[in-house]
Amino acid sequence: MKISPYFYGHKTIKLMAYQLLKGKKGIIFGALDEKSLAWRTALRCFEEGAQLVLTNAPVALRMGEINKLAELVKAPVIGADVTKSEDLKKLFEDSMTHFGGKVDFVLHSVGMSVNMRKGKAYTELDYGFNQKTLDISAMSFHRVLQTAYEMDAINSWGSVVALSYIAAQRVFPDYNEMADAKALLESIARSFGYYYGMKRKVRINTVSQSPTKTTAGSGVKGFDGFFEYAEKMSPLGNASADDCAGYLVLLFSDLTKMITMQNLFHDGGFSFTGVTEAVVASMKPDQA
Ligand code: NAI
Repeated sequence: MKISPYFYGHKTIKLMAYQLLKGKKGIIFGALDEKSLAWRTALRCFEEGAQLVLTNAPVALRMGEINKLAELVKAPVIGADVTKSEDLKKLFEDSMTHFGGKVDFVLHSVGMSVNMRKGKAYTELDYGFNQKTLDISAMSFHRVLQTAYEMDAINSWGSVVALSYIAAQRVFPDYNEMADAKALLESIARSFGYYYGMKRKVRINTVSQSPTKTTAGSGVKGFDGFFEYAEKMSPLGNASADDCAGYLVLLFSDLTKMITMQNLFHDGGFSFTGVTEAVVASMKPDQA
């Protein structure tokens, strides 16, 4: 059993690797830089014995960062814009050629809000921008699944996961149109999970992750306040990117083969906490 150091918050802890993904082949979307949830997950999947293909939008590949990860996890990088079906078809074709067979797991870790980028509030959405946001952040999940389904590119008992956020269920004002995108994303996991489960026993879930300091996360207005609030409102504190990676490894492994069509909260207890002492205290400045 291998023991490797992981960066956790401000300290380094040692995590054991259990070879949970030995012999499995996976495609990971969305590793932009070392903070990305997809980046941390690729490292952890590799530690657990998986063979990987990394993919991102051509514009993100031009940054070049992903090549560092590719070297670490010994994976090829195949560009694909998730809004283009032909890119996704080529991605699955090339991945299957590389692996010499079908894929066992896929991580969709992709999101972008055009209205947020342009500084537009939820009550003044530009619908052209909104269409792009929904296409990149939600319909792309359907496109990935439909491409794989038509090509029969995922092995039976394979696992597909997309990353979501609790704004799909509750209002977080500055999360803007991404709340609707995440609600759609979670709905696609349920609907496609039915068809893919019935036809090929492939499972599909979303993981609703704590706020995490990444490029996409920090793009949300007031993110630092968001992050601190969630930290105070979660009995276990916020789940880090490395914690998320560990949970995803479990979901890609055979230990979770009967879990499908779920939105799974990975948030230190935030979603089921009404209030905490720390938050109450912060409402009474004299006692804070
Ligand atoms: P990130 O910025 O590192 O990752 C987002 C990725 O989406 C980037 O790699 C970007 O290149 C990719 N992308 C954007 N447009 C694309 C396109 N057209 N084709 C292919 N790829 C494209 O940020 P992070 O936080 O790792 O985000 C990953 C996922 O996790 C997103 O779905 C995000 O909404 C979700 N999430 C993030 C949370 C956070 O607080 N950071 C919390 C909960 C969920």
